[in-house]
Amino acid sequence: MATTIKTSEEIDKMRIAGRLAAEVLEMVESHVQPGVSTDELDRICHDYIVNVQQAVPAPLNYRGFPKSICTSLNHQVCHGIPGNRLLKAGDMLNIDVTVIKDGFHGDTSKIFFIGEPGVLAKRLAGITYECMALGIRMVRPGVQLGDIGHAIQRHAEAHDYSVVREYCGHGIGREFHEEPQVLHYGRPGTGMTLEPGMTFTIEPMINVGRRHTKLLKDGWTVVTKDHSLSAQWEHTVLVTPEGYEVLTLREGESI
Ligand code: MF3
Ligand code: CO
Ligand code: CO
Repeated sequence: MATTIKTSEEIDKMRIAGRLAAEVLEMVESHVQPGVSTDELDRICHDYIVNVQQAVPAPLNYRGFPKSICTSLNHQVCHGIPGNRLLKAGDMLNIDVTVIKDGFHGDTSKIFFIGEPGVLAKRLAGITYECMALGIRMVRPGVQLGDIGHAIQRHAEAHDYSVVREYCGHGIGREFHEEPQVLHYGRPGTGMTLEPGMTFTIEPMINVGRRHTKLLKDGWTVVTKDHSLSAQWEHTVLVTPEGYEVLTLREGESI
C-alpha cells in the first residue's frame, strides 16, 4: 500500500489516538518501580486502554505478539515481551504503547529509569531523545526522509553510538505499519519527499556498542548482539503545511 495522505477528519482521529497513547505512558509512570514485573505493567496498561480509554491495544495478537505493550529492558533493543522478571534499581526500561481508537493508531514509547540511572544509561537515553527530537524538528513539506535519517545518524555517531538498521519508523494510520519506512540513518537528498497530511513515527534505536542485533528464540525480543545498552524513544508525527505536529506529546513535553 502506498503512503496515505490523511484528510482533516482522519487527522482529527489520529490526534485522538495519539493523545490516548501518550496518556497511557503518563498513567503507567507511577507504577514503574523496583519489584514490579513487566507483566504487571502490561496488565495495568491493558486494563486502562480497554476499560478507561475504550480503545484497543494494537500489539495484542498483532502477528502473534502475546501482550498489549512492548517492554524492552537494558540491552533489549525493541519488541520485548512483558514477563515475570522484576524491575530493579539501575534498570532502564522502554515501554512502547500503541492504541487503536475509532480505527486509527497512535504509537509512542518512552524510557523509564528504575531508581537512580547509571551515568552511561542516562547519557545514552539523553542522546537518543535528542536524535528523535532533531529528526522531528526537520519534518516539513519538501524535506526528504534521507535528510532526516542522516541527521539522526550523524548525531548518534558524533557521540560514538551506533544506529540500529534492522528496525525503523513507519507510516501509521488505519494500519499499524504503513509505508513509508522511516530509516534512522541515510544520505541527504534521498528517499521520499514529505507532503502535508502524511503521518509517521520517528523511533530511533541507539546502541552504546555496535549496531548489530539478534532476535531471541521467543521470536520477538530484539537484543544487541554485543549485549551493549540500547535506548529508544518514539513519537507519531503529522506533516503540516508549515512543518510538523507531534501527535503523541505528553503533558509538559515540547519538541
Ligand atoms: N510499537 C512498535 C513500533 O513502534 C511495534 C510493536 S509490534 C509488536 O512499531 F507486535 F511487537 F507489538
Ligand atoms: Co512504531
Ligand atoms: Co511503537
